[in-house]
Amino acid sequence: MRKTLVVGNWKMHKNLTESQALITEIRGIVRDEFRHNHAQIVICPTALALASSARLVEGSEITIGAQNVNEHKEGAYTGEWSAAMLKSAGVTHAIIGHSERRQYYNETSAVCALKNKAAVTEELIAIYCIGESLSERENNQFLEVLQLQLEEGLDSISADEMNVVVIAYEPVWAIGTGKTATAQQAQDIHAFVRQWLAGKYGQPVADATRILYGGSVKPDNAKDIFGQPDIDGGLIGGASLKPRDFFDIIRAAQ
Ligand code: PGA
Repeated sequence: MRKTLVVGNWKMHKNLTESQALITEIRGIVRDEFRHNHAQIVICPTALALASSARLVEGSEITIGAQNVNEHKEGAYTGEWSAAMLKSAGVTHAIIGHSERRQYYNETSAVCALKNKAAVTEELIAIYCIGESLSERENNQFLEVLQLQLEEGLDSISADEMNVVVIAYEPVWAIGTGKTATAQQAQDIHAFVRQWLAGKYGQPVADATRILYGGSVKPDNAKDIFGQPDIDGGLIGGASLKPRDFFDIIRAAQ
């Protein structure tokens, strides 16, 4: 059975002191109220707060993820960090190919393929994001777009390596907009992704791979979304900065 995963993506929010306070608050709520260990919790603060956050969550149900990783092992890449460096800071997951990285930093699926490979080589769990824009949805091109993102981004990932890959479906038109895909719209895409995974890697890998939904998930829509058979949790932006909302979403995922 797939273990539900809830990932908080803080994006570029919170300075170091604020990050530590927020991690501590969430850790406290999880310690006091998280009872049924069916969901796994990952929080992705800014790079600045990764190492100290990893120390703060030691011994708790929470682990720490990065919002990005470089595709190289090391070298003259100013402003970047490698998968091995993240591991050394206690980080367990890395978000790869978030639509904001694709849009503002020109990350293509081909670059994401290298990043996915770099992450899995270090046994850092790659959360590979895919998603169509509003115009791609309206023009009915979304399945081709998503398929291409899967084909290119997972190009060099083997079936064995898929046990350290999570897919996140985030329709770009639903991120930070308050517009959520309906639970059925999301389920349809998740089923499509799983079918694609079965075609490439075989049914057992498809059945074992977690596929998260992201885009304006809130406490009041989480249960409906997570209740779908092919939705294995969520990638949460705005609501993950509010401890109570984030925990209510975690609870909905159990
Ligand atoms: P949102 O962001 O929950 O604020 O829509 C989701 C994401 O970008 O991962």
